[in-house]
Amino acid sequence: MVIRKSEREIEIMRKAGRIVADALVMTREIAKEGVTTEDLNTRLEEYVLQKGGIPVFKGYRGYPKSICASINEEIVHGIPNQRKLRNGDILSVDIGVEYNKYVGDAAITIPIGEISEEAESLLRVCEEALNKAIEKTCVNNKLSEVSRSIQEYVEGKGMSVIRDYTGHGIGRQMHEDPQIPNFVSKELLRADEVLLQGMALAIEPMICVGNYDTEVLKNKWTVVTKDRKLSAHFEHTVVVTENGAEVLTI
Ligand code: MF3
Ligand code: CO
Repeated sequence: MVIRKSEREIEIMRKAGRIVADALVMTREIAKEGVTTEDLNTRLEEYVLQKGGIPVFKGYRGYPKSICASINEEIVHGIPNQRKLRNGDILSVDIGVEYNKYVGDAAITIPIGEISEEAESLLRVCEEALNKAIEKTCVNNKLSEVSRSIQEYVEGKGMSVIRDYTGHGIGRQMHEDPQIPNFVSKELLRADEVLLQGMALAIEPMICVGNYDTEVLKNKWTVVTKDRKLSAHFEHTVVVTENGAEVLTI
C-alpha cells in the first residue's frame, strides 16, 4: 500500500532531505585520495547527529555503519572500512537520515582525482538518468514511465541497468511501497501505480558499463557487478506535487 504524505509530513521530510543533501555536499569536499571510507563514515555520522538527525542505515537489518561507500565495481551497500581512496576510483556514497520520525535517502557517485573517460561517461549517464526519471515523476503519470525513462536512456548509451535492486517509496519507513525498478518488466506493468500527489519516492538508478548481473561479497552486504566492471548510483528522495516532482535531497 502506498502511503501519501500530508503537507505537514512533507515539511518534516524537507528537513530530513536537507540534512542528507548537506551531508552529500560535505562528502564531495572530503572524499579525496588517501581518505578511508571509514573516515568518511565517521565524519558524516557526526555531521548528521549534530544536525539532529539519526543515520538510519546503522542497525538496519544488522547493517554496521551509517553510510554505504561503494568503490568502482561495487554497486551499493559497500561497508566503510580502512581502504584508502585512490586516484582514478569512483566512489558511491549513499546516506539515509531520519529526522522527527521521517526519512530522507540519497546517493551520489563521485570521481576521486582523475578518472577514465569510461568512468566519466558512466557517472554522467547515471545522474542524467535520475534527472530524466524525476522529470517523469508527476501526477497522473505511471510509475512504469519513470522506470522506462531510466532504462531507455541508459541502454541507449550502451550501458546496463542493474535489475536486482530497486528504488522505493519512503516516509516513516526508509522502505515503503511501491518498489521502483529501473527497468520495465511484465511484473511492473501488472502492478503499475498511477502517481498521485503526496507520494514520496526514493528514485535510484544503479547502472554499469558491462552486464547487469550482480553478486554479494562474503561480508553479506557489498553488491558488486559479476563481471567486476564499473558501476554507478545516484538517488534522490522526491515528493509528487501538482506541478511535478519536488526534490527533497537537493
Ligand atoms: N539507499 C539504500 C536503499 O534504499 C540504502 C540501504 S542500505 C542499508 O536501500 F544499509 F541500510 F541497508
Ligand atoms: Co534508497
